[in-house]
Amino acid sequence: MRILGIETSCDETGAAIIEGNLASKKVKLLSNVVTSSLALHAKTGGVIPEVAAREQVKYMIPVIKEALLKTTEAGNWKLEAGIDAIAVTIGPGLVGSLLVGIETAKTLAYAWEKPIIPVNHLIGHIYANFICEKLDPMPYTLNPKFPALALLVSGGHTDLVLMKDHGKLKWLGGTRDDAAGEAFDKTGRLLGLGYPGGPAIAAAAAGFRGEGIGFKVKLPRPMIDSEDFDFSFSGLKTAVLREVNSLKIKKQFNNLITRLPARQVQQLALEVQEAIVEVLVVKTLKAAKKFKVKSILLCGGVAANQKLRKIMNSQLSTLNFQLHIPPTHLCTDNAAMIAAAGFFNYQPVPWRRIKVNPSLHFS
Ligand code: KG4
Ligand code: ZN
Repeated sequence: MRILGIETSCDETGAAIIEGNLASKKVKLLSNVVTSSLALHAKTGGVIPEVAAREQVKYMIPVIKEALLKTTEAGNWKLEAGIDAIAVTIGPGLVGSLLVGIETAKTLAYAWEKPIIPVNHLIGHIYANFICEKLDPMPYTLNPKFPALALLVSGGHTDLVLMKDHGKLKWLGGTRDDAAGEAFDKTGRLLGLGYPGGPAIAAAAAGFRGEGIGFKVKLPRPMIDSEDFDFSFSGLKTAVLREVNSLKIKKQFNNLITRLPARQVQQLALEVQEAIVEVLVVKTLKAAKKFKVKSILLCGGVAANQKLRKIMNSQLSTLNFQLHIPPTHLCTDNAAMIAAAGFFNYQPVPWRRIKVNPSLHFS
């Protein structure tokens, strides 16, 4: 079964085609095209919904066309490349952006007379762990075993979800305020590293060599010892702001420039990353042990963070959990994960009943 996935929940415009094998329950990726209006938002330090949606209107059809062209003979894309169904993100996300993908998906489903599957973007992220990129040889990487524990860490979400089977999800806890990605983005801005903060902080942290430090910094690890599976990251940005201000004041007293030297920015970036990663790893392991899961699935944009991937890997090496982490390009928003989620949760809905749901959560 071939599924065309469409994803437009934030600033990305994505289309992908997967081939799902009903007998082997495997999904292989045939094409995955993503464009982003990130460069426009970098100038303003965050996504402006109106700008994002306008860009998506421009890119939606060319992106779908490219995804189809990659799976069929050039010039033949109107034949739908043998598409059997369309999966589309209906939420959560920015309403204007979501509508671009939804209305396009509905139009295609109507014109091509194909079934349409509404997909929760958050659940979509989890399914990035069920995609096989290599076509040969069989078998590809194994599908995760159930029960599984998913840690979803993105710009808007930080959630721990127990997955007993496809369609059997139980939300265990999540952030009470800022998401992990948001913490990266906000502290990145405070450190003058630009948007998005996640990759910028990771790069600055990697540049820290430890020489000539001159100051000590230890940021809080919020809720690391709490009994529940909740998170809280908003205190981190306040702590970073306090550090930045105190360093700037010291500089001013010495009649020096108020901008922090690169070394101090790098050291703060390193500590921000350590604090976020430590909390995520500790809480994930605690939930994995409590619910005796067989596999742990990382997903969402923050799962692209190399430090998180490395620490999670090393912490799990002596434990009996199988760790799954998607390749970095499938951690950030993409349509392949939406198509995969549509395959494993195949519940088509008449196109008239597909509605946007900007505040969708795990239900
Ligand atoms: O999943 P995603 O692409 O979009 C949402 O659904 O939110 O996640 C975007 C988030 C941003 O906050 C970004 O800063 C973060 O993922 N991110 C990273 C890295 N790459 C992206 N955070 C830490 N390290 C990275 N390498
Ligand atoms: Zn996302």
